[in-house]
Amino acid sequence: MSIVVTGATGHLGRHVVEQLLDRVPAEQVTAVVRDAGKAADLAGRGVRIAVADYSAPETFDGLFAAGDKVLLISGNEFDKGRVGQHRVVIDAARAAGVALLAYTSAPGPLSAALADDHRGTEQALLGSGVPYTLLRNGWYHENYTENLAPVLEHGAVLAAAGEGRVSSASRADYAAAAVTVLTGEGHENRTYELGGDVAWSFAEYAAELSRQTGREIVYNPVTPEALTGMLSGAGVPEPMAAMFAGVDVSIEKGELVVDSGDLSRLAGRPTTPLAEAVAAALKD
Ligand SMILES: NC(=O)c1ccc[n+]([C@@H]2O[C@H](COP(=O)([O-])OP(=O)(O)OC[C@H]3O[C@@H](n4cnc5c(N)ncnc54)[C@H](OP(=O)(O)O)[C@@H]3O)[C@@H](O)[C@H]2O)c1
Repeated sequence: MSIVVTGATGHLGRHVVEQLLDRVPAEQVTAVVRDAGKAADLAGRGVRIAVADYSAPETFDGLFAAGDKVLLISGNEFDKGRVGQHRVVIDAARAAGVALLAYTSAPGPLSAALADDHRGTEQALLGSGVPYTLLRNGWYHENYTENLAPVLEHGAVLAAAGEGRVSSASRADYAAAAVTVLTGEGHENRTYELGGDVAWSFAEYAAELSRQTGREIVYNPVTPEALTGMLSGAGVPEPMAAMFAGVDVSIEKGELVVDSGDLSRLAGRPTTPLAEAVAAALKD
């Protein structure tokens, strides 16, 4: 029996594998990757590496074994039909008779187009009969803190979220929840709504940036259309730009405030404060 993590060379996957290695021997962990070269460090630490692509069903033949616990990390190829890609993993998991398939989804109330693939994957998973856990991950702090250069340059946070709030958490927090599910018992057929302990507004985020940089950084609310235009002007393909602006609309409606407490409960500790993520990003 193995704990199998797909997307293991992605940002979230790396946190998950790292935290798994604190809990279980490396030989019990399988990292599913597209490029074995990117996982050489993990192989060197004794993690089993399996090379597979969500778009190539045959690469998943025989990859899982009966009794495995699998984390399916959602892909990032928005234009390639992610539901079909994820179904490849679900079908392989069913054929093998895995004990659990956990999926990194999106918050239940999220109506933005970005959530469509997650709802489709959830349906496929529930319909498969495979024991599942839905890890409905809220927003990452890093969505904001990893891209501070233009904010610092212009002294402004731009968003189309009005006065909406978002309870983001760090990728490491979501990884901790996934590791609890993968290494623990009693998570079969459960849905967790995961988000940070504190919901913040973009005005508060700008104020925190001002406090930590000692410079005036303001929140500049814009319309979704203006944000779409600015993002596509900066080189983001138009459909993606519209999708990102759609998320801000959802934030304004309160759809990314998660108050279930599931994340800190599963992680066994409070979630990482936004201020900490800002401080870490400013140090880089
Ligand atoms: N909650 C949020 O705020 C938020 C924000 C952004 C994204 N997400 C979702 O959460 C996922 C994980 O986040 P992240 O930050 O770790 O994203 P990431 O760094 O972009 O990682 C995505 C992972 O998916 C793998 N992948 C993509 N297409 C694949 C395919 N066809 N076959 C096999 N593997 C494939 C990538 O493989 P490689 O390592 O080979 O590239 C990578 O490991 C994202 O993919 C996205 O669905 C959530």
